[in-house]
Amino acid sequence: MAVQKIAVLGSGTMGHGIAQAAIVAGFEVALFDISQAMLDKAGETVRGNIDKHFIAKGKVTEEQGRDILSCLKLNTDMQKAVSDADFVIEAVPESLDLKKKVFADLDRFCQPHAVFATNTSVMSVTAIAGATQRVDRCIGTHFFNPAAVMKLVEVVTPIGVSAATIDIAVAVLKKMGKTPVKVKDVPGFIVNRLLGLLYQECAQIVLEGTATAQEVDTAMRLGANHPMGPCELADFGGFDVIQMAQDATYEYTHRQRDRLNILYRKMIEAGRLGRKNGKGFYDYHEDGTKTAFTIFT
Ligand code: 3HC
Repeated sequence: MAVQKIAVLGSGTMGHGIAQAAIVAGFEVALFDISQAMLDKAGETVRGNIDKHFIAKGKVTEEQGRDILSCLKLNTDMQKAVSDADFVIEAVPESLDLKKKVFADLDRFCQPHAVFATNTSVMSVTAIAGATQRVDRCIGTHFFNPAAVMKLVEVVTPIGVSAATIDIAVAVLKKMGKTPVKVKDVPGFIVNRLLGLLYQECAQIVLEGTATAQEVDTAMRLGANHPMGPCELADFGGFDVIQMAQDATYEYTHRQRDRLNILYRKMIEAGRLGRKNGKGFYDYHEDGTKTAFTIFT
């Protein structure tokens, strides 16, 4: 089956990044959200990115840029957005009940051949697929933030997925310029399972006063060639997301080292969620700069 039309559900950071990567690759994309305001903001962001990262850099002409943008349709009606889609990528908030409901609705609204992918980083893809009557056509496609830029997508294979569905997902992702890596459906998959350890350990280093967040980040940027230090990356991902991921991983492994570090719980209690609300290991300012936050005075 050759995929032409993709529907992306949820226009948040991941959803609009995925939609952008898909239109740049030449797919027709319907981006759905319940909120018109969110959709408008997502549309503006994608337009701005095409201007800044493609037209201004001479990667495409203005006319080509307009053609790319014309492939993106914004829709607040989910049934309309998905009815002619060959491939649906769900990127709604991380709630198992919500994702199961969305998949059950997709099963009613979509054509029989359509494949459903979830971008969950935390939930069981097998459980989400189980909300449909087409378990063989459900899969996980775990993109990384920023989704328009990051090359990796983990292809998460739940129990019951067919080989044909895996092939379709891999072909779609390759056309989007991504490198798919197959992984079984266990919490954390590959990358978050390993990143989790980094998040846990950097928090412990800061908590015990061995080094500050800034020192940890500088050390890992310059000593391990990481593009962002682990504290910056934790801010980038969001402490609430890390909490969900660690809790799910701990429930699966029951290893002490996978239990969420107390520092994240305390930061969340203090209203610090990371870059998304401007307050994490760092304070983020409107002019785009950041300064170190003193955690313990
Ligand atoms: N759209 C299109 N292109 C974009 C873009 C966008 N929104 N943003 C940047 N680009 C392009 C730029 O034009 C540039 O292209 P060029 O190389 O052809 O000139 C290239 O991407 C690099 O951009 P910048 O020079 O502006 O940025 P940096 O080199 O500083 O890289 C970064 C920024 C990619 C975010 C880098 O800091 C990085 O890799 N950080 C780590 C990100 C990471 O680890 N993400 C994973 C988080 S974990 C996760 O997502 C899991 C989930 O479950 C939570």
